[in-house]
This record gives sequence, structure tokens and C-alpha cells, in this order.
Amino acid sequence: MTKVFEVQNLCFTYPKAKTQTIQSVSFNVEEGTIFGLLGPSGAGKSTTQKILIKLLSDYEGTILYYGKDLNSYDKSFYENVGVGFEMPVHFNKLTALENMKYFSSLYRNKVDYIALLKRVNLEDAINQEVSQFSKGMKVRLNFVRALLNDPKVLFLDEPTNGLDPTNARIIKDMILELKQQGKTIFITTHLMGDVEQLCDKVIFMKKGQVTNASSPRDLKIQYGKQEVTLEYLNNGSTTKKIFDLADLGKNPDFLATLNQYQIETIHSGETSLEEIFIKITGDNHEESR
Ligand SMILES: Nc1ncnc2c1ncn2[C@@H]1O[C@H](COP(=O)(O)OP(=O)(O)O)[C@@H](O)[C@H]1O
Ligand SMILES: [Mg+2]
Repeated sequence: MTKVFEVQNLCFTYPKAKTQTIQSVSFNVEEGTIFGLLGPSGAGKSTTQKILIKLLSDYEGTILYYGKDLNSYDKSFYENVGVGFEMPVHFNKLTALENMKYFSSLYRNKVDYIALLKRVNLEDAINQEVSQFSKGMKVRLNFVRALLNDPKVLFLDEPTNGLDPTNARIIKDMILELKQQGKTIFITTHLMGDVEQLCDKVIFMKKGQVTNASSPRDLKIQYGKQEVTLEYLNNGSTTKKIFDLADLGKNPDFLATLNQYQIETIHSGETSLEEIFIKITGDNHEESR
């Protein structure tokens, strides 16, 4: 698979910071996938994104973009890259439409941004000044702005933060459609629901350091309990029994329970991404990976 980014031993320190902000971070982002950089506030996610989009250049380590040193790219890099910043970037005194017209004029590639504005439920606000927008409306406009050049690689910093579930779903559906079109998407987030629905590979960042990349599914299995819990009706009352996953199909007790009783629920012991997030990035735990 083509690697869009190959990041090796990336280190970065803000000019006045006492400690390194990004500490020897390595990961690859493969073309056509959604890559999630996860972690609590202050971990260094936005900083990492800013380095990858060439806004911060004074880093150590190597970053290859499509196999070539990121530093060797000039401004044309931005023709194929879309960026949704954490803080929406707009001209408040202009309308949504005027903003999109302006930002669109900066790129060679064009998209039908009216259609995109409609898709994110901003149809009625197209001619409204952005200063009158709610936070959620700004977040959606920010998302459309990131798509104005029909980017091949899309960066989204906390793309659904501040959105109600309906609008968050619209954005997530659009992100999945962009992936279907072959685009590569780099997302930073602390919202595990987004990760579950979107990400192919994730890394967790804590105080500038990261874990190895893994899929959400593998993480849930790895951190979960290797067991199955059955709840069944026994003489009219619900009874619970836990079985080891190993050799489950040959476990006579498990098979007998399945045969004899009316099963109410069956659950395998994979853990939630929320629990994994807390386990890996929480302060009271040593990093376990
Ligand atoms: N412009 C800056 N100058 C100095 N320190 C910064 C700057 N931006 C962020 N930081 C610090 O760098 C660390 C990582 O921040 P950030 O990358 O924004 O984290 P995240 O996006 O994971 O919340 C934090 O301690 C933050 O205070
Ligand atoms: Mg951030």
C-alpha cells in the first residue's frame, strides 16, 4: 500500500516550552485510509497536525510525504491537501457564501460548495454573516472549507467537536464517502464514538508520545477479557455465567447451557474504546503498550 506519510522519530519543541512537545513519534499513514490520532487535551495532536501540514517546520526527525521529504515540497503541496483547523477559520463579517467564494479562489481545483453547504444543513444560512453563526454552524462551514480544493489528503482536527448527533452523523457520513473516493484522511479527536465509526488505524498520544498503530477492533480485543458472558433463564430467573473464550466450542458446560436454557444475552468481553482511551492516556496508569 502506498504510504502518504512516513513519520520517523519526530520531535518538536515550541520556542518557549520547557519540555519537548512531541517526543520521538513514529507512524505511517496509508493511502485511502482514515488514520486517527487520539489523545487527551494538550497531548500534542494539533501540534502534530500542524507539522504534517507544514505550518511548523522546525522539527527533528524525518517526515516523508509520498516518499519524499516533506521539506522539499513548496506551496503546491496545499493544492492537494485540505485542512480543517480546530478553531474554525473564517471572515466573520462576510457571509458563508462569500467566505467559500474567497477561499475557493485560492485553489486550482474547484468543487460545488453550494451542494456541500446544503449537505451540511447550511442551506438557509448561505447568505448570513458568519458572525451570526452558532458554534456548530461554524464547525460545519469549517468542514466545507477544508473540502474546497477537492483534496487528495484531508486533515481534520476534532471535526465533530461541538456538533449535535444529527449534524455529527452527516459529517461522519461525508468523511466515509470521501474515503470511498480513495482519499486519505487524518483525524485528531478525543471522541471515541467517531473513532469507532471512522478510523481504520489509530495511535494514542499522551504527553507528546504515541503508542503503536492498531485498528480499533484489535485494540478492543487486546484490551478486553477473553471471555463470553451468558445470561439465561433458569426456573424463571435470570442467571449469569462466564466462560473462557479458549476452546469455547468444546466446553461441555457452555454447550449444555446453550442447549438447556433460554438464552437472554450473549456478550464477548471486548472492552470499549472509552475504557482503552482512559487506560492508555489516563494519568493514574502507566502506559501499558
Ligand atoms: N503556539 C504554542 N506555543 C507554545 N506552546 C504551545 C503552543 N500550542 C500548543 N502548545 C502546547 O503544546 C502542547 C500540545 O498542544 P496541542 O498540540 O494543541 O495539544 P492537543 O491538540 O492534543 O490538545 C500543550 O502543552 C500546549 O499548551
Ligand atoms: Mg488540539
